[in-house]
Amino acid sequence: MGLILSPEVKMRHDGSRAILFSVNSTNSINDTAFRFLYPQQAVMLSLFDGKRDLNEIEKIVAYLFNLDLELASKEIESLLALHANREQTIGSLIVDMSRIDPEKARIYDPKDFIISAGSIDMTDTRCKYPCSLIVLPTMRCFTSCRYCYADREGAKGLEEFSLFLFERLLRDANECGIEAVDFSGGDLFCRDDAFDLIRLTFQNKLYPNIPTKYPLSKGQVEQLAEMGLSTIQISIDALDADIIDNLVATKAGYGRKILQTIDYLGEANIKVRTNTVLTPYNVKDAIRLARYLAELPQVFKAHFTCYGRSLYRHEDKMFCHLEDITEFESELNEIKKEFPDKAIIFSGLPGDPYSGDKEKRASAFWDRAFCTANRRGVVVLPDGRVTICEELYFHPDFIIGDLNKHSLLEIWNSPRALKLAHPDQSEVHDGPCRDCSDFHICHEGLGRCIRDALKAYGCDRGHWPDPRCPRAPVGNRMA
Ligand SMILES: C[S@@+](CC[C@H](N)C(=O)[O-])C[C@H]1O[C@@H](n2cnc3c(N)ncnc32)[C@H](O)[C@@H]1O
Ligand code: SF4
Ligand code: SF4
Repeated sequence: MGLILSPEVKMRHDGSRAILFSVNSTNSINDTAFRFLYPQQAVMLSLFDGKRDLNEIEKIVAYLFNLDLELASKEIESLLALHANREQTIGSLIVDMSRIDPEKARIYDPKDFIISAGSIDMTDTRCKYPCSLIVLPTMRCFTSCRYCYADREGAKGLEEFSLFLFERLLRDANECGIEAVDFSGGDLFCRDDAFDLIRLTFQNKLYPNIPTKYPLSKGQVEQLAEMGLSTIQISIDALDADIIDNLVATKAGYGRKILQTIDYLGEANIKVRTNTVLTPYNVKDAIRLARYLAELPQVFKAHFTCYGRSLYRHEDKMFCHLEDITEFESELNEIKKEFPDKAIIFSGLPGDPYSGDKEKRASAFWDRAFCTANRRGVVVLPDGRVTICEELYFHPDFIIGDLNKHSLLEIWNSPRALKLAHPDQSEVHDGPCRDCSDFHICHEGLGRCIRDALKAYGCDRGHWPDPRCPRAPVGNRMA
């Protein structure tokens, strides 16, 4: 059998170039893959069609690009050595056809990636169409978690989008090559039409990634399985039912129910991802939870994240302590060794962005992760408005459009979205970014984290620095 690109990633043309990206990293145990490709690179990768082996591909590349065999082989080698994320090279995303489900194989026509040499442009870090989609169907919840980062108050009184608008959005997303809807909120299952939203997502050939704290009944779980749901995220913070009840601030008895839901999911053959928010109130019990989850056959991914400052219901006492986290991490490492087939992930203790000397801060800042807001992804709010990052919610400065009035692509290419993506420094009226000589590279390169600027300096200071920036002043406590 021949070689092919893993079905976890896909190629799509992107106007003046092509992109390679993960179609559903939420469900994958690998990091999100993303890379801009020159047309000739996309053409070469499309030759990996599951029928040809490397020798045959080398011969075709030599013929197509008028190279001798040795040079063609070198071209392919250097293409496969390029990184698609910090861990994986493109080469590691090439698999033998016999290892994948033939129905999932993506076969490309190399001609689709050919564009004239003069129109190739690799400079813009913003995709011509979005390639990921977060949808907040509601801000209502079953629980009222003490640590919650969501703006639930801001949604009070807003009318939630209709099934009609949602279906139009799914069609727009399809046109952009998006294959998954990452739900958030709020809790999807608090909507009466939650099952209709899920059904519509499947009907439009997208996969619904659902995080929930809703204690689903056996019947509801069976209904989800019948609809084709094969994975779901349960957010659970402890194994001790009383600790769960306390953290999610709901009636006694909830903790037992959510543990029961995980059992129902196993019985219905739905695989479970979990997310646990670590605070001083559950960190001791979280290690028991980690072992419990690792032993459950239905759990394939267990994520542990330290509490991050919330813009809406923050208390300093929710931040984790270094000694608790050090102990947690070393015990979790033991569990990881025992269960090498499970993705047990700890995102680490967030560092204090203001500490360290200028040099260290600078090198960490210029090595930060790429911000995808308004460059690769969009976020749809419960009333159909569109913003650039989940945690900015209804903040008016970052709303880029309204699906009640425009299509997803119209919004993506709207003057408002483009202005936010390519900000004008002369409009920054105060703060360190106003006169910064790195303004352009900072905003159009890796990106400035606006969410953290708001958290550090207040909701009216979205134009202030990313608190990790060495020029950023000390603001609110972040860790
Ligand atoms: C905002 S919730 C939305 C989905 C759903 N309501 C839930 O709780 O699963 C998404 C995830 O963020 C987690 N989360 C909420 N507030 C957080 C905070 N301040 N720091 C870290 N994670 C948080 C939740 O526990 C949940 O796993
Ligand atoms: S963490 Fe999720 S369930 Fe809890 S209050 Fe926030 S949005 Fe609701
Ligand atoms: S965050 Fe502001 S001050 Fe820091 S490098 Fe970026 S533009 Fe300059």
